[in-house]
Amino acid sequence: MEVVLSGIRSTGNLHLGNYFGAVKNFVAMQKDYRCFFFIADYHSLTTHPTPVDLHENVKAVLSEYLAAGLDPELSTIYIQSDVPEIPELYLLLNMISYVGELERTTTFKEKVRKQPDNVNAGLLTYPVLMAADILIHKANKVPVGKDQEPHLEMARKFARRFNQMYHTECFPLPDAFNWGKELIKVPGLDGTGKMGKSEGNGIFLADTDAEIRKKVMRAVTDTGPANPGQPMSEPVRNLFYIMEIVSSPDTVAYFREQYETCRIRYGDMKKQLAEDIIKIVAPIRERINQIQSDNDYLRKVARMGAEKARESASKTLAEVRSIIGFKPF
Ligand code: ADP
Ligand code: TRP
Repeated sequence: MEVVLSGIRSTGNLHLGNYFGAVKNFVAMQKDYRCFFFIADYHSLTTHPTPVDLHENVKAVLSEYLAAGLDPELSTIYIQSDVPEIPELYLLLNMISYVGELERTTTFKEKVRKQPDNVNAGLLTYPVLMAADILIHKANKVPVGKDQEPHLEMARKFARRFNQMYHTECFPLPDAFNWGKELIKVPGLDGTGKMGKSEGNGIFLADTDAEIRKKVMRAVTDTGPANPGQPMSEPVRNLFYIMEIVSSPDTVAYFREQYETCRIRYGDMKKQLAEDIIKIVAPIRERINQIQSDNDYLRKVARMGAEKARESASKTLAEVRSIIGFKPF
């Protein structure tokens, strides 16, 4: 059976981009594949090395995974740092990855621009750790948003190189995957760019109804179309993009028609958009609040996940060690 695997860094609460780009796909895939979903807490240290909120952030993402519908009976749900086989494979993969190719990775260059005072080696080798996450369970499909494409390409490259170097077929080549057809990129509410945790432009699964309404009503638009057929500005195109994800096709068609005939009132469109977002988020938020206060349940899920993940990971690691030539005396 094909193996599905994905993870999200524990750097804060999940937003609509994370949900529609990643978690919703996780939920949809649980029944049909052998699934591994984890929380990338080691990865979070590349940008968020603060002990005071490390654990709270892991707990937030775990609760949000479960509230969104991940089922610990169907999937293996675990925390990256609970599986020591991952950093061991990471060490081994570091020996077959080249500094030049890591320096050229677009996501690395972006991070160097964003945090010039903390260009740590963890940022440079971020794609190697991510490849270890994926290859440790020999995953085939990796549900992620569009921004993760360069990382998936690196993971394939390392898998291919390992196989060629050691004349083996140990690793399948993993592909980025979306249950729809294309990888998606949910835009932010500030007019440009993607919705992100640190961009201040997101709606979070834990937001209250009032917060959602306020954020949507403040979203950037323009002065409205002056004549029919006028191309949409980026901020308005983005609002329609979000509406296509959360609203019914009738609703989208109605507002498109309003736009095309220059009668659109962005205030009305935003009100509708906010209500449609609330319909999706409110039940998830309620479950987040319940689950987050149930420490016993969270502990049980994490322990069970770690056990199942280690069982699978240790098999791959033993195979890899033997291929490389490690032998017991
Ligand atoms: P953030 O950008 O908020 O820090 P992460 O980088 O931790 O989020 O991303 C976690 C997952 O969510 C990844 O699979 C990523 O592709 C997806 N994702 C994040 N933001 C978006 C977005 N705006 N649209 C679609 N997918 C997204
Ligand atoms: N880099 C991913 C992100 O920022 C998180 C991640 C780490 C991941 N390891 C992974 C995603 C393995 C998929 C598979 O969202």
